[in-house]
Amino acid sequence: MKITFSNPAQPTKGIAVVFSAERGKWSDSAAKLDTKLKGALKRAAKASRFEGKRGQTMTVLAPTGSNLERVLCVGVGKPGDMTFENMTELGGKVFAALKGAGTAAAVCADAFDKSSLKAADVAAAISYGALLRAYKFEKYKGKEKQSKDPVIGSMAVHCQGAPAAKSRYAKLAKIADGVYFTRDLVSEPPNILYPAEFAKRLKRDLTKLGVKVTIMGEAQMRKLGMGSLLSVGDGSARESQMVVMEYNGLPAAKKKGSQPISFIGKGVCFDTGGISLKPAGGMEDMKWDMGGAGVVSGLMKALAGRKAKCHVIGAVGLVENMPDGNATRPGDIVESMSGQTIEILNTDAEGRLVLCDVLHYVNEKYKPQFMVDLATLTGAIIIALGAERAGLFSNNDKLSERLFDAGEAMNERIWRFPLGKEYDKDLDTDAADMRNIGGGRGAGSITAAQFLQRFVGDTPWAHLDIAGVTWSKKDSAVVPRGGTAFGVRMLDRFVADHYE
Ligand code: BES
Ligand code: MN
Ligand code: ZN
Repeated sequence: MKITFSNPAQPTKGIAVVFSAERGKWSDSAAKLDTKLKGALKRAAKASRFEGKRGQTMTVLAPTGSNLERVLCVGVGKPGDMTFENMTELGGKVFAALKGAGTAAAVCADAFDKSSLKAADVAAAISYGALLRAYKFEKYKGKEKQSKDPVIGSMAVHCQGAPAAKSRYAKLAKIADGVYFTRDLVSEPPNILYPAEFAKRLKRDLTKLGVKVTIMGEAQMRKLGMGSLLSVGDGSARESQMVVMEYNGLPAAKKKGSQPISFIGKGVCFDTGGISLKPAGGMEDMKWDMGGAGVVSGLMKALAGRKAKCHVIGAVGLVENMPDGNATRPGDIVESMSGQTIEILNTDAEGRLVLCDVLHYVNEKYKPQFMVDLATLTGAIIIALGAERAGLFSNNDKLSERLFDAGEAMNERIWRFPLGKEYDKDLDTDAADMRNIGGGRGAGSITAAQFLQRFVGDTPWAHLDIAGVTWSKKDSAVVPRGGTAFGVRMLDRFVADHYE
């Protein structure tokens, strides 16, 4: 979507979008337009009880004599409660209300008394929200079946301080590039996006932005001793890959010897369960079992794209979990890179087998300040939290708080679960150093996290179980249904707040 910014002007054709605060406090441009339309907006507001509550909308057909088609009136709520983030959400709703309109739209963004946001902030936030919501994945639909939305093609935003709005928006659009990148990866079908193709796209799209992208195949990983990760891909015709992305945006003086921060992602391009085969119903969802890797990739794109002043490693383990004559059997014992041996009792608990080797590799090679991993790791986290929050597991309170706060700020919210010896011992087994599932039926998300913790040493670490939030069946303000990219905006904020 193309968005242009210019100084305040009264729209004369197409759709005009104007704002009102609660209790009929119309914005300046709304009031002016209302005068021009001889009070049509205020009359309509009264008749349809439009009060300017945040998120409330009202469409008014332009009266005869005006060349406008219609006016979309949008409530911003109490001016004192307006934040950049909730105006972003509002932008998503504005976009949704305009979708399918068939005409160009002009948005008149204003400041409100008693709000700390300037008109340029409102304009940038609304535009950013519209951009996030405008995402679609239609590359496999015939031309005539694709949605046609002229509004969506372009939006003109009018506000005081247009140049400031434009430059703020340009930075945000880089974050949206990361979100779009993640959503694309998550949406691709598994016959197209297999490990080597995923790796190729990372190299192609991130190298351009100054990210160093290193791809490792099975031979290299075998040399490193990654017997755990490799065991997951044994039943697949596709070669497993590990991709390490390094971006260093620190100023030259600080670059040398800097300790990076790191993000690690589960990239199971398709999860059949392996020999512990999943039931057929809903198995297609397992195309997005690479969601963690998708978020790490999109985050790297966002950080590099906006030239963040940080040093960051992104690492993803890319595999396909399939059953065939070479596949891992329940009962097999493998040796991880850390030297710890694992008895694989359920080949469907494969994400942890991938992550443990990547976590160990990153920890050893880069000695990062911290490691945050993301994974669609357990169905149990969906039982616990639904689609509202992701699960957080960590050995470090400070890291947890920072992540939690970033999640609240960006409305990508998480909730911390406990870890402890009592859960950890559920992974003990007679045959090897550990087994890959717990013994009972309870606390499946926690035992999965306990497994990962055995590979992180003393490094501050947090694990986000995003199984419930990676894909959405319904539209919400800034996230159209489909791949959500949950985590990209939150982690971008987390980095901006503490590591730049
Ligand atoms: N990828 C799945 C978890 C998942 C389930 C993600 C549903 C998204 C939606 C994971 O690999 C898995 O199969 N986990 C098992 C673990 C069990 C065998 C201990 C699970 O959750 O059932
Ligand atoms: Mn599985
Ligand atoms: Zn999985």
